[in-house]
Amino acid sequence: MFDTQDPPREMDIDRPCAARIYDAFLGGSHNFGVERGFVERVEETLPGITETYRENRAFIRRAVEYLLARGVRQFLDLGSGIPTIGHVHEVARRRTRHFRVLYVDNEPLTVAHSAPLLADEPRAEIIRADCRDPESVLRAPEAAELLDFGQPVGLLLSAVLHFVPDADDPSGLVRTYRAALPPGSHLVVSHVTGDRDTRAMGVLEDFYAETADPLRARPTSWIDGLFGDFELLPPGATYLSAWRPDPDQIVTSTRYPLLYGGVARKSG
Ligand SMILES: C[S@@+](CC[C@H](N)C(=O)[O-])C[C@H]1O[C@@H](n2cnc3c(N)ncnc32)[C@H](O)[C@@H]1O
Repeated sequence: MFDTQDPPREMDIDRPCAARIYDAFLGGSHNFGVERGFVERVEETLPGITETYRENRAFIRRAVEYLLARGVRQFLDLGSGIPTIGHVHEVARRRTRHFRVLYVDNEPLTVAHSAPLLADEPRAEIIRADCRDPESVLRAPEAAELLDFGQPVGLLLSAVLHFVPDADDPSGLVRTYRAALPPGSHLVVSHVTGDRDTRAMGVLEDFYAETADPLRARPTSWIDGLFGDFELLPPGATYLSAWRPDPDQIVTSTRYPLLYGGVARKSG
């Protein structure tokens, strides 16, 4: 069980970590040899898996554009990773000058790499905190400075909860975050599942078992439960490639349907 007195996560550059693995899959430059080697081995075993990672980032873009169109102007992104290659503030600033993004990650080097990338963007900031400790996120001075909890917030929990073990009660955590959000807020979730491709999911879990961020797949029915009493917006929770695909997006399924999620709104 996560204890708020636990020391913060330490830097570990000997093992691949989730943020830099993801960056390497996206073709970014914030990763090391251990992550590039990991990506090569995974892609060799599951050819075409890179597309699944890119699908997650494309889902974030579509979800953030959708929230902006619905009037949401502030975003809290938990387990943000390195905010490059079309991340939340980059999507937001294409549409409006009036937005705020607070990125949160617990991996020290991810935060150290990300802070300079945001130095010229006063509307976005990253802090080092653990999403398993909602108090430390919601009470962070940066949250008070950047976000107005009297106005709707877009809360992103994208590809992060599968790094939170059952012992840390991920659904209870999401319940706490949902309760802290003002009415009109939106929850964006993506999570891995093996419901459709158990073999590929098992292979990926085995690969991640060697990393600093072991992951666990969960059933889609469990992921559905994360939205609680929020209203799921069309098309509901689904495999990500089928979530509001771009009009010119011909393929709405990927080779490895491992990512599932959706967007829901708090009423009021
Ligand atoms: C795969 S990346 C996802 C990045 C981004 N959310 C996205 O979907 O594009 C997962 C991120 O979650 C972070 N993470 C894992 N466990 C975390 C925790 N307990 N608290 C905060 N961040 C965490 C990792 O460091 C990593 O940067």
